[in-house]
Amino acid sequence: MTTTVRVSRPERLRTKVRVPGDKSISHRSLILNAIADGDAVVERILDSDDVRSTAACLRALGVAIDWPEASDRALVHGRGLRGLCESADVLDCGNSGTTMRLMSGLLAGQPFLSILSGDDSLRTRPMGRVITPLQQMGAHLHGRKSDTLAPLVIRGGGLHGTRYESPVASAQVKSAVLLAGLYADGPVTVTEPEASRDHTERMLAAMGCHIETAAHAVRIEQPSRLSPLPIRVPGDISSAAPWLVLGACHPDAEIVIENVNVNPTRTGLLDILDAMGASVDISEPRMAGGEPVADLVVRTSDLRATRVDGGVVPRAIDELPLVAILGCFAQGDTVIAGAAELRVKESDRVEAVVRVLGSMGADITPRDDGFVVHGPCRLTGATVDAGGDHRVGMLAAIAGALATDTTEVVHDAVGVSYPRFWDDLRDASLGGVAAR
Ligand code: S3P
Repeated sequence: MTTTVRVSRPERLRTKVRVPGDKSISHRSLILNAIADGDAVVERILDSDDVRSTAACLRALGVAIDWPEASDRALVHGRGLRGLCESADVLDCGNSGTTMRLMSGLLAGQPFLSILSGDDSLRTRPMGRVITPLQQMGAHLHGRKSDTLAPLVIRGGGLHGTRYESPVASAQVKSAVLLAGLYADGPVTVTEPEASRDHTERMLAAMGCHIETAAHAVRIEQPSRLSPLPIRVPGDISSAAPWLVLGACHPDAEIVIENVNVNPTRTGLLDILDAMGASVDISEPRMAGGEPVADLVVRTSDLRATRVDGGVVPRAIDELPLVAILGCFAQGDTVIAGAAELRVKESDRVEAVVRVLGSMGADITPRDDGFVVHGPCRLTGATVDAGGDHRVGMLAAIAGALATDTTEVVHDAVGVSYPRFWDDLRDASLGGVAAR
């Protein structure tokens, strides 16, 4: 459902936020526990549309998951590596690329037929990147438009070991190959050009799987079983990101964000903030659910421009649109390069950043592989359409919370990753109030 929300800049910003559970870990905690030998409780699971899509697919494959409405606690009744059964219907992945790509890997190992589809956005996103390696392993897996787009049809089973060099740094591709690797007849190695998030590797190792990691490469051997992994999901740094950017750019701010996952494969934004001179304290480092976690405090900062390229790109991929806002408050040209992946997310996020911030007065030039912000720029309130992309909705809201005048954000999708986002904005006195 599309709604319009008003956002405006408060004089002073002092707030404490508890962001929802990590989306990537929430998906994996359901998928991996579904094929474990026994039950596992997942606490602080992200209750969002995307993670609910994964749960629905697993239920259709015979997995019992006790996860009441509006709850952040799920009990997964694992069926073991060979306990899934054929779904009676098409598996609907909704808007979730993680669901579709990870489920493709899992289903490539199952000796039955599966069909995966999703919404209009997901059916335009590249699937050749998982189809190619899974076919190389022997899967009978096909997609629309010469094996590039969903819906996907999979008749699984009979997989071989392989070495696959992925041309893209993508945790979804890597995880799809590793999930298929659980069912292969020999070791599977996947290499990527830069390191992507490593939650699948951490969780599989904790479940007793033999997994080795070296520079940008992971090797997995087929386990005889997986132990259930009870887990308390840490807060999502991708949901902390809007607050980090808001606090650094606002003229009088101090924002505390508790319990944030600071896995080094996810902390690219913290490195970018550091390079731009932002004031961010990282305190109380600890381990939770097999992942490093900390509390973050961000304060008003004098920002300088930076160049973002190379290995930091996959470590900040979902946060890069927000870096455009930092660029608006920094002296000089902030350059995002080597990030063509932004064009194949839930929407074309290069186009979205240029359109949304451009309409608010930012001076931004698109590149094929990113964008350049010519800072500093004065942001003025406007009516902006998030185009059905959750991260674009949050980008527009944060820009509105830093702009003069009121901004109206037309959106329908923050429920994909951060359902309480507008409530948290309202609690911080930034507006977040439905306009009509
Ligand atoms: C994700 C990996 C990233 C990220 C997405 C979640 C994951 O996608 O953008 O939001 O959970 O593995 P890619 O693997 O396509 O880079």
